[in-house]
Amino acid sequence: MDEQQIRQALQAVIHPKLKKSLIDIGMIRNISIHDDVVTLNLALKSKRSPLKNVFIRQIEKALVGLPGISAVQVDVIALCHEEFHQLFPRAPLKGVEKVKQFLAVASGKGGVGKTTIAVNVALALAQQGYLVGLLDADVYGPSLPVMMGISEALEMKDNMIIPKEKHGLRVMSLGMTTGRNEAFIWRGPLVSKMIHQLLDQVAWGELDYLVIDLPPGTGDPSIAIANALPHCSILMVTTPQEVALADVRRAIELFRKTGQPFVGLVENMSYFLCEHSAKPIEIFGHGGGEQLSKETGFPLLGTLPIDLELQQSGDSGIPLLVSSEGSASVDVFQKIAKRIADQTQ
Ligand SMILES: Nc1ncnc2c1ncn2[C@@H]1O[C@H](COP(=O)(O)OP(=O)(O)OP(=O)(O)O)[C@@H](O)[C@H]1O
Ligand SMILES: [Mg+2]
Repeated sequence: MDEQQIRQALQAVIHPKLKKSLIDIGMIRNISIHDDVVTLNLALKSKRSPLKNVFIRQIEKALVGLPGISAVQVDVIALCHEEFHQLFPRAPLKGVEKVKQFLAVASGKGGVGKTTIAVNVALALAQQGYLVGLLDADVYGPSLPVMMGISEALEMKDNMIIPKEKHGLRVMSLGMTTGRNEAFIWRGPLVSKMIHQLLDQVAWGELDYLVIDLPPGTGDPSIAIANALPHCSILMVTTPQEVALADVRRAIELFRKTGQPFVGLVENMSYFLCEHSAKPIEIFGHGGGEQLSKETGFPLLGTLPIDLELQQSGDSGIPLLVSSEGSASVDVFQKIAKRIADQTQ
């Protein structure tokens, strides 16, 4: 018996879902024959796949008893991520089928202003004439309902969740389904299921941009968004201090690994405009965003001041881009939105 004959005999082992033989789709590989024993690899989603024993029995049935073959040694290996998704492509996410661009706002650490920036950049894009949605992917501590001033419960239609229209945006947050101030403790697989639902079962409709507010760091929600939306652009938020940069670099590394495009950086809380001083005061140091931009090649799209009005607008539920006609921060948000639109449209 040679390898060709073994491959021929293995045509009988069919994947029940794909209706193709395991040998043709590359799930059986590295066949070798020593004396009367065939050794091969069986590549499955995981080594604990429930189909493992079924396949091993079928492989044995197909080979043992062939002239000169008395035993088969099957080593189960795991398919890599890309191989798995090539074999089992995901169903398209229904809710976002008509969304043109995805933009996730990320950072290395908490409290640097991601949600504030996601909200106001989304509003600035809407003011420039784009159709914009805003998704709270911070499943651990959703803060969009407070910042957007949304307290109404969500409605469903035809088994889909209808996002809330507010300040000209379509908004969805898990904080709108379970009440405020609730601490969410989700485990990995559950998080990726929730994120999948937020994209699949929310009727986002036609949108130019879906802006996604991520939790800090490199946790499960960020990974779930990256896996579900391979083309989602990343807007990284940092603060000027050197110590913040190490965390941002780690987050950048994650999104580089998943292959996301980066739209640029925003440095928040960069300086304080004081009425008693002609020059901006750099309370948290200087140049973190610029340095990161040089290091990574990502453009620094804007630097935002420490702004009491911005902070208060976040608590009041009426975002700055809605309440204020003009200020240094409003100008920066509008410029950031313009530069994002220039890059992505
Ligand atoms: N430029 C700024 N000037 C003044 N206050 C700001 C500024 N940016 C953000 N804040 C305030 O800092 C706090 C944290 O901001 P925000 O919630 O947007 O950060 P975050 O990165 O989303 O936090 P988390 O990691 O918890 O999600 C808020 O009270 C917000 O109003
Ligand atoms: Mg936040």
